[in-house]
Amino acid sequence: MAKLSKKSVFICQNCGTSHIKWQGKCNGCGEWGTLVEELVNPKEVKSGPVLIAGKKSKPLKLTEIEVTHEDRWHIPDLELNRVLGNGLVPGAAILLGGEPGIGKSTLLLQLALQFADKKILYVSGEESAAQIKMRADRIPHDNPKLFIAAEVNLSQIIQSVQEIEPDILIVDSIQTIFSDLLDSAPGSVSQVRECAARLVRLAKETPLPVFLIGHITKEGSIAGPKVLEHMVDTVLTFEGDRHNSYRLVRTAKNRFGSTMEIGIYEMMGNGLREVSNPSEIFLSSGTESFSGISIATTMEGMRPLLIETQALVSSMAYGNPQRSATGFDLRRLNMLLAVLEKRCGFNLSKHDVFINITGGLKVEDPAVDLALVCAIISSLHDLNVPPRTAFAAEVGLSGEIRAVNRLEPRIAEAEKLGFKQIFVSSNQVSGLGKNFKDIAVKGVSKLEEVFRSVFSE
Ligand code: TYD
Ligand code: MG
Repeated sequence: MAKLSKKSVFICQNCGTSHIKWQGKCNGCGEWGTLVEELVNPKEVKSGPVLIAGKKSKPLKLTEIEVTHEDRWHIPDLELNRVLGNGLVPGAAILLGGEPGIGKSTLLLQLALQFADKKILYVSGEESAAQIKMRADRIPHDNPKLFIAAEVNLSQIIQSVQEIEPDILIVDSIQTIFSDLLDSAPGSVSQVRECAARLVRLAKETPLPVFLIGHITKEGSIAGPKVLEHMVDTVLTFEGDRHNSYRLVRTAKNRFGSTMEIGIYEMMGNGLREVSNPSEIFLSSGTESFSGISIATTMEGMRPLLIETQALVSSMAYGNPQRSATGFDLRRLNMLLAVLEKRCGFNLSKHDVFINITGGLKVEDPAVDLALVCAIISSLHDLNVPPRTAFAAEVGLSGEIRAVNRLEPRIAEAEKLGFKQIFVSSNQVSGLGKNFKDIAVKGVSKLEEVFRSVFSE
């Protein structure tokens, strides 16, 4: 049999599973039409797995391993600092994913400019050095130790790291980088996997924190094999919608901290502004009250947030009542409407119901239930929820008001923002450790009680 010098394999662009011949469906993830032919260099196939540290390491007793707290570098960008778990760990590999144009390059370039005491190498495979300079000129920070390289070749990047010896490496983006060792095109699964593996190894060996920017697919996951997310220590996603200037950084995975935190930014003409008091942006200004609006409390990570929930209930326009929810789970909305019908006797079956969480936020916290139910009834009967009223409770299937977690920080946030009353589950009132002076904490146990109290004033 003739010996082939180059082998080709068919790699699933979704999960990275390789197949020896083309087929319609991937054996690994079951997706259709995702296999792409890639040439494999025999050299690379033989090389096999590589040791992470590049050298043999001796097992140590857990008690012998020393960890110093200065090992975390405080990041000047406080939102990012918190999201990463109070600082940057040397040797950490961090992947930042997000839609095109959302501000990934801006966020990391701004971070590089703010980190004035660190030497940083910013490698871009997407923009020329002059374009990066123009972008940097818009941002009001300066770092004399920031090096820019417009480069896509992995071995060149590693060489630059060895020459410059930066404290932090930023690679924009992993999909544009390619390795000479592979014949496949930049952005293909094998290239992304190889380049990311080399950069992660570089991070661990040096140790050097490495930020990788990743494109996302149209389904919203980071483009390339899922292994990419396994390789790195932290996966951040940068999100927001095109129509408003607020941006959220979330952690999807973090080996060095909680995944509950979010960072909030506003995209301005001169870079991203950290939003330190997020409740302000989710509440529309003004004290005028309208029907169909009520204020809920939610937790994003460890931070309480006050958000506005809006409902519009109108007579049915077509044969079937419409229900639509923006920023909230539609099934949960249907459940709340069923509770209102069955337990409280409101007739909503002849009405269309639309709800919206303002500020482009998506909430999953059940503590917004009570506010939403009040917004719906407020719109149905055209009665306003009194101003400076907030809600923090879940609604159960029998119309009972249920307890929520971390109630005290929620009340404290509402008090700080000048709210005068907050409705919570009566089960939780006696357990409150703190006395709130400026806000009345009203314990309620049934929906009827809430409606009587809210709409009778
Ligand atoms: P960018 O960082 O290029 O996005 P990504 O790397 O995620 O593709 O951000 C692009 C958008 O941000 C672009 O539409 C312009 C806008 N922008 C500002 O509004 N203000 C600024 O100071 C900068 C640098 C960019
Ligand atoms: Mg970019």
